[in-house]
Amino acid sequence: MCGIFGYSGKRQDGGKIVVEGLKNLEYRGYDSWGVACTTKAGITIRKDIGKISTVSSDDFSETCCLALAHTRWATHGGVTPANAHPHLSRDGTVAVVHNGIIENYAELKETLKTKGYTFVSQTDTEVIPYMIEEEMKSGKSFPDAFRNACLQFHGRYAILALHQASGMLIAARTGSPLIVGVGKDGYYIASDIPAFMEHTRTVQYLDDGEIVETDGKKITFRDIATGEERQKREIQITWTVEQAQKGDFAHFMLKEIMDQKESIARAANQDEEEIMTIAQAIRNAKGTFLVGCGTAHKACMAAEYFFSVVSGHHVNVCSAGEFKLYHHFLVPESLLIVVSQSGETADVLEAMNVAKSKGAKVLAIVNVEGSSVARAADYTLRINAGPERAVASTKAMTGQMSVMLLIAYALKNALHDGKTLLLETGALINDMLNPRYVERIATIAGNIKRHEHLYIIGKSWHYPMALESAIKIQEVSYMHAEGFAGSELKHGPIALIEPGTPCIALLGNDEVTSDMLNNATELKARGALLIGIAPKRHEIFDEWLKTPDAGAAQPIVTIIPIQILAYELAVQRGKDPDMPRNLAKSVTVK
Ligand code: F6R
Repeated sequence: MCGIFGYSGKRQDGGKIVVEGLKNLEYRGYDSWGVACTTKAGITIRKDIGKISTVSSDDFSETCCLALAHTRWATHGGVTPANAHPHLSRDGTVAVVHNGIIENYAELKETLKTKGYTFVSQTDTEVIPYMIEEEMKSGKSFPDAFRNACLQFHGRYAILALHQASGMLIAARTGSPLIVGVGKDGYYIASDIPAFMEHTRTVQYLDDGEIVETDGKKITFRDIATGEERQKREIQITWTVEQAQKGDFAHFMLKEIMDQKESIARAANQDEEEIMTIAQAIRNAKGTFLVGCGTAHKACMAAEYFFSVVSGHHVNVCSAGEFKLYHHFLVPESLLIVVSQSGETADVLEAMNVAKSKGAKVLAIVNVEGSSVARAADYTLRINAGPERAVASTKAMTGQMSVMLLIAYALKNALHDGKTLLLETGALINDMLNPRYVERIATIAGNIKRHEHLYIIGKSWHYPMALESAIKIQEVSYMHAEGFAGSELKHGPIALIEPGTPCIALLGNDEVTSDMLNNATELKARGALLIGIAPKRHEIFDEWLKTPDAGAAQPIVTIIPIQILAYELAVQRGKDPDMPRNLAKSVTVK
């Protein structure tokens, strides 16, 4: 959460660079923005509430070789210009942006107040420039003062600061991501790669507990605790600039839904030896646990059925934020599988720490290469979805399910069958995503968009898809949507159904189809407007959205029309599907 981006180097258009780059990080937070540019006259700060996408980089045309910028997702203090970052030191020579939380900020603030500092914001961030200034007052250089200040902060954070007199840009990481882009004309430091991808695809990753310092000509990595230098490898990233752009699509969410024509095949393209090693690790494990958050958690729930139906293997699934409670069951032979698109989700990282503290091994299924989760895991599989920029996860989720389905087939010693199934599924999705199908869903969205409530039911592996449907619809359209297991209706939720209430039934072509039809009929009998998402039409459906018959990959095809419906409901209700209110991609706070 919060996007951080800084530049130091030969180029004189630092302000423009950071503003343009920040626009590519807006998915990390978008309630306010701010930019600091150093010029001969000093540091200029411009900040405001609202989205950076509405700001023109032409307004930042002053000569500037050292700049930083921030897009905020508020944690401490409301959404006001005063709370927007950057924050300046009292003497105006140090500007700071920050992601994460300084947990002991209240205590530090009290001490600073006794030294005469007055605070103009309600943020925890404002203590940072004052602490650095205080350290510099005692004669320390900017890098030493920065490091000393960091030693006094508690919490998980990423901090980026610039100092006008020394011309230095310095960053520290403890728990929130920071990546250095190594360019021909200087260095870029950002919380995520898309910020600088158009300038360079050579990166160096900061690890937790590290600082990076640059004057634009050279770069030095250090250990925060000891100050000792650390050597870093340069890594070439594989994502392309085009993949990270919207192209002709109206929104990233729609582009990413359409990307699923190809992304399933990319997810299936895994190293066979690696998958077989992982299958063996699952076989050998004394207890396999599968965790993720939000949509990734629903992918894990679907995978529980894949492992059970395809390979007869039991796994324990829980939300990553709840995993701590499982620590009694962990032994060194346990295996934790974590699923995360961003690879930066705080609850997922904490689940990994819980498992590691018990000596258990961790397999990470991630999208973002080089992410914290990927680098901390014992084994990593990438879903190869390409950048996912919309806050709502679409192609990453189907990629996650695809990789887990493949593992289930590997466990059954039938990896090639799994690959073939996924390639066929990709082709089926390619057929589904045609303009007529999208148009049909848009019409259904138009018919239900004014309703207050929407209920979705599913059974077996469609139960997690019902829960995922609710997340997708809620988060982008703000319509109240809830998912239930079909069999649960009579245990309470059916009381919500009134004549005309829109309800969606998710069906496949499997052994639970007739039970699900009974549940759907119970809704229909209470007057529900029934939308069936199913391979076959049934007479009880008021509307039918056909899905192909995809065998064990059925949940992957079932969620596609729901993603389009959520998108259409958002657009038709006048909401921005790419930047839903109160949300941000990459949830780096617990
Ligand atoms: C919803 C959504 C979230 C994420 C969740 C985990 O559409 O995207 O629920 O799935 O925040 O994020 P990752 O996968 O990055 O760990």
